[in-house]
Amino acid sequence: MKLYACPKDENNSEREYENMDDKKTGFTSKLGFVFAAAGSAVGLGNIWRFPYLAAKYGGGIFLLVYIVLAVTFGFSLMVTEIAIGRKTGKSAVKAFASLDRRFSFIGYIASAVPIIIFPYYCVIGGWVIKYLTIYFTGQGAEAAADGYFDGFISSPVSPIVFTCIFIFLTAVVVLMGVQKGIEKVSTVMMPVLVLLSIGIAVYSLTIDGAWEGFIYYIKPNFSDFSIKTVVAAMGQLFYSMSLAMGIMITYGSYMRREDNLEGSVRQIEIFDTAVAFFSGMMIIPAVYAFSGGDKDALNQGAGLMFVTLPKVFDTMYGGKLVAAVFFVLVLLAALTSSISLMETIVSIFSDKLKVKRWVICVCVMLISAEVAVPSSLGYGIWSDVKLLGRSILDFFDFISNNIMMPITALLTCIFVAFVIKPKTIEDEVERTENFRSKKLYRIMISFVCPVFLVVILISSVIGYV
Ligand code: TRP
Repeated sequence: MKLYACPKDENNSEREYENMDDKKTGFTSKLGFVFAAAGSAVGLGNIWRFPYLAAKYGGGIFLLVYIVLAVTFGFSLMVTEIAIGRKTGKSAVKAFASLDRRFSFIGYIASAVPIIIFPYYCVIGGWVIKYLTIYFTGQGAEAAADGYFDGFISSPVSPIVFTCIFIFLTAVVVLMGVQKGIEKVSTVMMPVLVLLSIGIAVYSLTIDGAWEGFIYYIKPNFSDFSIKTVVAAMGQLFYSMSLAMGIMITYGSYMRREDNLEGSVRQIEIFDTAVAFFSGMMIIPAVYAFSGGDKDALNQGAGLMFVTLPKVFDTMYGGKLVAAVFFVLVLLAALTSSISLMETIVSIFSDKLKVKRWVICVCVMLISAEVAVPSSLGYGIWSDVKLLGRSILDFFDFISNNIMMPITALLTCIFVAFVIKPKTIEDEVERTENFRSKKLYRIMISFVCPVFLVVILISSVIGYV
């Protein structure tokens, strides 16, 4: 989900500053910035992706690894990106270029990530629309039946139609430039989504057998630990916090110089992690309750939320209504993220090509729709097609989160540690207040992060984990 700020073009700094001025209305307070950046971070990544990874990679141990990575790794990277953005006042490619010409390529690699994510994000967005229509047409009971979700995603036409609707909705907003309206609506809806998730999570716990699942979710079992847990948690961290793809640099460029950068990063992280945590709490205990902790149920991957939640709603008094409201809010969170993803892609191309913006919008819409088709069919008639042992959607997810984002993050660390030096970032953070975690930051960015990222990359590449 994204609020207020939208990624700007790289080459037109005048427009960039113009944008900054009119964005000022959004960021007249520190909280405004925190909400906007947290809004960008919160989306399907938290609600759909986090729970299925946590279920698959050992529950409590995944949660623990994720939180440790968030406060060390995620913190350092987010501080770096926001500081680079605020210092240069530019978005990714130009920001790197203005710090050191030779390194603008990092900005280009970062910008490629949204291009890979966008089409498959829309496939999941399509699933959300499908579930929304289910509850609006009163078919909730059918959706709770075993096999319903598989039947839906494996059918050749229906999921593609919903994906196209989702892409179309996104494109209409981007084309009409009405992001701000949508973003205002979602600022109000976001807290409602969080409260509703907490409510559903608490209800989930009351279902027979759910408690055991809750224990699985929060109590780390160290025998479940493996490098796969770390790789998955790291990819999720990048994805969920919109790191290593230039987005936070853009946000930083909107941030006021007098605001506390370190404190803002902490708040964004807490918000993003809390939403993910409650989404997990809403889904994982329920999986246990309905399956008795069966490993296959926990391992089912991308469909977990869509299989489990209808069952929860089915047992709940007034569940159909709660479900309808819930899916509207999730759709909104998903749309604001996809709008921001598409906006990024459109601005990359409108910088490079001298073509009208609406033409680019239409092209991005059509091409993404086409690229999304294989991701969708990969769960149905093309389920035999395996890329690196994965379904097509999982393959795109893997390439972006586990290969490209670690590469971007690694290059960013090397750039900070050896080219501009950590002090440049630290000084930017210290414009206002003391950088309380300065020591941690320096060690992380110069040693731990790069070494760790190399290990992650190697294990991703070798093991196709
Ligand atoms: N962080 C978003 C989420 O959790 C997904 C996302 C990834 C995103 N990259 C982005 C959103 C870029 C906006 C812009 O769903």
